[in-house]
Amino acid sequence: MEELKRVVRPGGILVLSVPAFNWLWGRHDDLNNHYRRYDFGELIHSKNCFSEANRYILVQDQGVEQPDIESSLGMPALNSVLYLVGSTRAGKVNAMCCSSVTQVTYCSAKVAVAVNKNNLTHDYIKESGVFSLSALGQNQGHMAHYFGRNSGRQMNKFASFKYKRGKTGSPIIEGCPDYYDCQVDHRATIDLDTHTLFVDRVMDASSDSEEPLLTYRDYARDVRNLINDPNMSQRTV
Ligand SMILES: Cc1cc2nc3c(=O)[nH]c(=O)nc-3n(C[C@H](O)[C@H](O)[C@H](O)COP(=O)(O)O)c2cc1C
Repeated sequence: MEELKRVVRPGGILVLSVPAFNWLWGRHDDLNNHYRRYDFGELIHSKNCFSEANRYILVQDQGVEQPDIESSLGMPALNSVLYLVGSTRAGKVNAMCCSSVTQVTYCSAKVAVAVNKNNLTHDYIKESGVFSLSALGQNQGHMAHYFGRNSGRQMNKFASFKYKRGKTGSPIIEGCPDYYDCQVDHRATIDLDTHTLFVDRVMDASSDSEEPLLTYRDYARDVRNLINDPNMSQRTV
């Protein structure tokens, strides 16, 4: 972005065509050797390169692989509760937002979680064999956005959020209504090509909060405001 700013004349127009939103990562990106996908806010505000610009025009790509945000949020996704999936490696912690979480057996308590192989959290879970689920409350859309639009590969997401360690050592995020502390059942782990489906035994939980939980649909409703908030995209480009 710094170099682009250098070569654009004052008052000039910069047209950027980039793959949008890291959470839309898929096979298409692997095939095209993409390095990462981008958020509008983070591009504009990265390193304050274009912070003085006050007019942006966002042109939507009509291609099949980059659906507009409402249809991509509304169409394929069940209206699941959103969780922060946290894990640990060599003393470090990381967490990401996740909608693909479901209970699979009640006794013994087991849950399944689908995690994209490109995510840092995936590496942590694969190596440590443990993770936590922190359920998000309805007033925590900003946390879904922050943990779901930034990667621990580029920043320490826990610089601004507190946590405690669960029994497995996984981070349980402070302020979340419910949590589940889980150990991976390696016999039941399934390779889904782009994702891994981790099936896990719940080792410890606190799940009796009566606070309403945040769903995918709640998040989809608020996402445009979150995207346009420069404080929400802190990853350096
Ligand atoms: C609402 C929402 C739901 C998401 N659901 C999933 C999911 O089910 N599985 C997944 O792998 N990534 C999901 N993501 C994307 C990850 O949270 C995102 O790629 C994150 O940046 C990964 O962070 P990490 O690299 O630090 O692990 C979701 C993101 C959002 C905003």
